[in-house]
Amino acid sequence: MNRISTKLTAYFFIAVLIMETFLIFYLHRNIIHARIEEEFSLLLKNGSNHREVLVEYYSDTTMKHILLMEKGGDREVVITDKKGEIISSSFENTKYLNEFLPLIKNLDSKIDKVLISEWKKSPYIISAHPYKVSDDQSGYVVMFQSTSSLKQLVDKLNMHFGIAGGTSIILLFIVYTVLSRLLTRPLIRMKKATENLSKGDFAVSLPNIGKDELGDLSGSIQKLANDLERLKTERNEFLASVAHELSTPLTYLIGYSNVAMRKEISGEERAQYLGIIAEESERMKELVKNLLDLAKMDENTFTVSKENFGAQTFFENIIKLVGPSFEMKNIKLSFVCEDNFQVHADSLRLEQIVLNLLDNAWKYSKENTEVTLAVHKKEKKTIISVIDFGIGIPTDEIEFIFEKLYRVEKSRSRSLGGSGIGLAVVKELVEAHGGTIEVKSTFGKGSTFTVII
Ligand SMILES: Nc1ncnc2c1ncn2[C@@H]1O[C@H](COP(=O)(O)OP(=O)(O)OP(=O)(O)O)[C@@H](O)[C@H]1O
Ligand SMILES: [Mg+2]
Repeated sequence: MNRISTKLTAYFFIAVLIMETFLIFYLHRNIIHARIEEEFSLLLKNGSNHREVLVEYYSDTTMKHILLMEKGGDREVVITDKKGEIISSSFENTKYLNEFLPLIKNLDSKIDKVLISEWKKSPYIISAHPYKVSDDQSGYVVMFQSTSSLKQLVDKLNMHFGIAGGTSIILLFIVYTVLSRLLTRPLIRMKKATENLSKGDFAVSLPNIGKDELGDLSGSIQKLANDLERLKTERNEFLASVAHELSTPLTYLIGYSNVAMRKEISGEERAQYLGIIAEESERMKELVKNLLDLAKMDENTFTVSKENFGAQTFFENIIKLVGPSFEMKNIKLSFVCEDNFQVHADSLRLEQIVLNLLDNAWKYSKENTEVTLAVHKKEKKTIISVIDFGIGIPTDEIEFIFEKLYRVEKSRSRSLGGSGIGLAVVKELVEAHGGTIEVKSTFGKGSTFTVII
């Protein structure tokens, strides 16, 4: 009984079996009961009719007529006199009649009466109808109804109910087995699919089975499988990118340290190579730090602790921090903030967000351009925009820039010092705040990043 289809079949089958048995029993009983009632009332009616006729026209001829009327059927009639002696009888075979003689002789009822009603045991059901023409001419009209036709009827009914019950049970069993198999087939498929998933085989393909609960479940499992498959590929791609990102600076480090170790090079050259080594090591350190940050965010081991602080001072401090590098590249950095409203956020994380966006604006803008940091409040939300007139992002690449290690034109970004993690970190941080980030960018003209927190 481990299979759900077997269980379903068994439960349904038992339920219907109980119902069917009850129904058959009920019908059987009532049909027979109605038939017997009919026989009794017919017997009593005929008996009383005969009595009426006899009282009206009491004579031997009338008696003969009464006997004639019952001839050939499965009813018999016996007429007795005052002493209980039979004066007329339609019985041809007296064998049965003798059996009932004592009963007939000792009749003393003033009203019509059923004498024997036990149709199962007795060959006849019997009723007695008293008549009185005069003091001397009285007695009983005794009616006999053979029970053989009733017994035949019961036998026939038993046979028909048996056949109907048997075939319906077989048919029901077949229908339930087929139906429960059909119903549970998708479940079995889903079970197999989840087993495969747990073994790490994500190439699961479940058919679309409609919009009911099973269909929803199947859809969810399929979605889970697709997500797991995508995550697996993403993870592999990510690991390959990390390895690649780390191997490039490492190659520089090994190459330049080998060159720097040479005895024949001048002190000036050595200093230059050591400078490159220091720069590359710094970049690696930054990359590893960013990766660690991301890993922490993915594990949800970091929390945002929101507080209220004034926008003006907060953003001005950031501008002060990045100002010198913008000046060095001759980029004008403007700050627009209408009034000193309160920001509700984790100040350290928000600083990280804005610094990253400003860093990108700085990195991807040419000299003598302008970058604007604009902040304002709208319906309890803080809206922060970083607008640049830099190189912009091609439209078909915009959707990927928040992915880890994704960079537009890898060689270009690398020459600018990017590793493709900044925006992934920004997105995670913004979402941890319950906020959103949007980008608008025209390739070659500039970009606007808007954070709503
Ligand atoms: N303001 C911008 N203008 C043009 N391109 C941008 C801008 N900001 C981001 N990008 C593009 O999106 C890519 C992803 O940005 P992201 O900040 O994640 O990485 P990165 O700046 O290259 O490196 P990192 O921030 O990790 O040092 C960048 O490589 C760059 O090609
Ligand atoms: Mg960046």
